[in-house]
Amino acid sequence: MLRTHTCGELRLTDVNKPVTLTGWVQRTRDKGSLLWIDLRDRYGITQLFLEEGKTDATALQVARSIGREFVLKVTGLVVERLSKNDKMPTGDIEVKVNSIEILNASKVPPFTIEDNTDGGDDLRMKYRYLDLRRNPVRENLQLRHKVAQQTRIYLDSLNFIEVETPVLIKSTPEGARDFVVPSRMNPGEFYALPQSPQTFKQLLMISGFDRYYQIVKCFRDEDLRADRQPEFTQIDCEMAFITQEDILNTFEGLVRHLFKTVKGIDMPSVPHMTYADAMKYYGSDKPDTRFEMKFAELNEVAQGKGFTVFDSAELVVGICAPGCAEYTRKQLDELTEFVKRPQIGAKGLVYVQYKADGSFKSSVDKFYSADDLKQWADKFNAKPGDLLLVLSGEKAKTQKALSELRLKMGDLLGLRDKNNFAALWIIDFPLLEWNEDTKRWHAMHHPFTSPKREDITLLDTSPGAVRANAYDMVINGTEVGGGSIRIHDRATQQLMFTHLGFSEEEAKNQFGFLMDAFEFGAPPHGGIAFGFDRLCSLFGGADSIRDFIAFPKNNAGRDMMIDTPSTISQEQLNELNIAVKEIKK
Ligand code: AMO
Repeated sequence: MLRTHTCGELRLTDVNKPVTLTGWVQRTRDKGSLLWIDLRDRYGITQLFLEEGKTDATALQVARSIGREFVLKVTGLVVERLSKNDKMPTGDIEVKVNSIEILNASKVPPFTIEDNTDGGDDLRMKYRYLDLRRNPVRENLQLRHKVAQQTRIYLDSLNFIEVETPVLIKSTPEGARDFVVPSRMNPGEFYALPQSPQTFKQLLMISGFDRYYQIVKCFRDEDLRADRQPEFTQIDCEMAFITQEDILNTFEGLVRHLFKTVKGIDMPSVPHMTYADAMKYYGSDKPDTRFEMKFAELNEVAQGKGFTVFDSAELVVGICAPGCAEYTRKQLDELTEFVKRPQIGAKGLVYVQYKADGSFKSSVDKFYSADDLKQWADKFNAKPGDLLLVLSGEKAKTQKALSELRLKMGDLLGLRDKNNFAALWIIDFPLLEWNEDTKRWHAMHHPFTSPKREDITLLDTSPGAVRANAYDMVINGTEVGGGSIRIHDRATQQLMFTHLGFSEEEAKNQFGFLMDAFEFGAPPHGGIAFGFDRLCSLFGGADSIRDFIAFPKNNAGRDMMIDTPSTISQEQLNELNIAVKEIKK
């Protein structure tokens, strides 16, 4: 190595040692006769010190010529600092410089490379390699490394083996669009990039691998959000000869292992909640259970009193915000505005203030007596001092809107602390969901998920009521993982494809290989995939998974640094037999 030590390791015990350090100039301070340089590498910062008349004149001259982010090799002697800095691990010492070599110069960086930077998002994305020099960003990637290491340690201890699956494949239906790659050697034909290694991991079970995992890139062409990237990473797992309980136990174990080793947190065992209950009590299949505030349905007590908005509604449902009875008119108006935003879509909000003296004040006093409102309050087990917030309308939409309001109240009341973690399994998902756009049933998880045996007879009569052997792990309102017990026989798989509207021919063309494989001794199997980036951002207490990806894309799916996607040459297009339509920008 060019250095004897890193910039993060020298302490008082090293005083009087001659050392050589390498790193980047964080900043310099020139006080005339004295000059300091903060030298940084990924391990920390060490203060260097030069003195007019004492330090070698050439070294002083070089020191005066450098700027931020120059790369230096410095030799000197470790000395005790007169004024110590207890905020830095190396703050007790400094290095008295003997010589400085500039290993490389640097242009003035486009933003300050310190913990608190002045760079905006776009600029930092364009110069991501510089942003990665900053501690908070680098620490995120170190955390990611640790999560990956601990995942491997846990799964390896249970006899899982890591197998790589191909990236140039055929479409796997995980519900998003495919990214496709044209084949030069097969004109007019395309590979698809995997949305997940789903079919391959199932084939590995048929091959007898029994326990598989892979920390693997997946690609989905879908609308991007804070927790979605077009290429992201899964901890993808599959097991054979198991029940659903085995899978839930094994992967609850993984998550608890990660909490323990990465965060030092002993996680309690993970509760199970059915999809039906999650929707009924939280209006969401990924409820944030760091706080209660469960829904209570009010149809029974709120309908038939002449308030037509409620009388005509499929569902009247509310939440109880503890201690919020004294909210002002302005605060209540703000909540009403919130639920009326187009993204939330409620028409209005009814509130009931259960005053500390036991009286009621509501936005619907005209229709409901104090006795009526007491009945509402009892549905929530509300106490004097609480505020009831009630929405009504079509069931699914109203549940969704109230779920958003619940999260908003959770935020307002400080109930969503990033250092608190609440995990749960959502089980018994519906097998199918109706898609209004295509007017067809779609697999809610994916088409390889098995229906609950006792529900199979409902497939013809009431497809929406069929439950699947499918499960998600939810932490703090984020879906961090999902999986299912698979179909492992041709007939059931064919039946499933039929219900999804695939002709026999289409099913054979797309998934014939899997159905053929089922006929050569497919063991019962099932698995799960965790969103690796989501797990990391959760551990890191961040909202966006971008911060935990070394080189992420922006919300338009662009890599601002390498400036892609981009056009390709006419020559390449010709070679690939692709004609590109004129695109107006
Ligand atoms: P699923 O589609 O539920 O299941 O994906 C598994 C997990 O991957 C994460 N995830 C994403 N993370 C970031 N960006 C995205 N665009 C993105 N999409 C999904 C989520 C999700 O829970 N093959 C099945 C798994 C199985 O059945 O075993 C699958 O991919 O955290």
